[in-house]
Amino acid sequence: MKRRIGIITSGGDCPGLNAAIRGVARASYGMFDCEIIGIKDGFKGLIHCNYQVMTPRDFSGILVRGGTILGTSRTPFKKMRKIEEDNIDKVKCMIDNYEKMKLDCLITLGGNGTHKNANLLREEGLNVIALPKTIDNDIWGTDVTFGFHSAVDIATEVIDRIHTTADSHDRVMLVELMGHKAGWLTLHAGVAGGADVIIIPEIPYSIDKVIESLDRRHSSGKNFSILAVSEGAISVEESKLKKKELKKEREKMKFPSVSYRLAKEINGALGLETRVTIPGHQQRGGSPSPYDRILATKLGAYAAEMIANRDYGKTVSVVNNKLWATPLKEVAGKLKLVEKDNLLISTGKLVGASFGN
Ligand code: F6P
Repeated sequence: MKRRIGIITSGGDCPGLNAAIRGVARASYGMFDCEIIGIKDGFKGLIHCNYQVMTPRDFSGILVRGGTILGTSRTPFKKMRKIEEDNIDKVKCMIDNYEKMKLDCLITLGGNGTHKNANLLREEGLNVIALPKTIDNDIWGTDVTFGFHSAVDIATEVIDRIHTTADSHDRVMLVELMGHKAGWLTLHAGVAGGADVIIIPEIPYSIDKVIESLDRRHSSGKNFSILAVSEGAISVEESKLKKKELKKEREKMKFPSVSYRLAKEINGALGLETRVTIPGHQQRGGSPSPYDRILATKLGAYAAEMIANRDYGKTVSVVNNKLWATPLKEVAGKLKLVEKDNLLISTGKLVGASFGN
């Protein structure tokens, strides 16, 4: 009997989503008789039964394409069971629509929020397989997520380009990078781009230490400096606050983001001219790198093998360079943050980068 496979992409997009969709589809078509149902715009599509029956042709030419052919949206996990003004019981609608679409299983491609939603649907009895995508690389249980390496390439190129202009103008340039609460992207791009100071959320920074390291560098004759700063960076003082207190403090902050505050403090202390660059969503845009195309294809094809074996309730992971299926209940709700003893931190320090601590 024809198997009906639903595919959904949810949360922030990233390069490699289409490559993974193609991986699932092509490997499934090759292994068993199936029909693929593309659910539109994330969980919103499952809630509102917005879908499209796909054909093999829909998966042609998408390997190199950025974004997601299915569209995406954010449906926060904490709101899933909440009945809002529209009076819709989202969880019930998703279960009903899964039945209505006659799905045998649902493949969810997403980050942390998506994994929580996928686990919720698993708990409700649906057959779910998740794939780990995010430029943040912060999904627990997998060494790497697809989208991450493409973002590292983009962020590194930004730092490279900033180098020449920083040098020409004798400036201190701060490059603020995405990553939410995790510093993976900043750490990798910072080391790859030779940033002089790398500030990540996992290592709260001391402004005095940042200033000290810049002062040392400029006193030794260097005419410019580059700081790679995570959007989620926090100071030592802020790290002592409770989540709610920090939110309040940040609301009071007069600067658009943490890099602007740092830039002002550096300028005030050292008199050096500072500038901030925020590449923002460019880090999620464009074609996936060859690394991500390969990774996403491997993960997608592995998911198809799991469908063939009816091995549900799991997320496809990379562990020590091998593909693995980790139970969704273990992954959902946990963040993979940069460990204090990460080799790239010690390597960065050995080659002269300051981590502001
Ligand atoms: O999770 C990916 C990510 O790009 C984070 O790095 C960033 O904090 C967030 O999404 C931005 O979200 P949005 O696209 O909704 O502004």
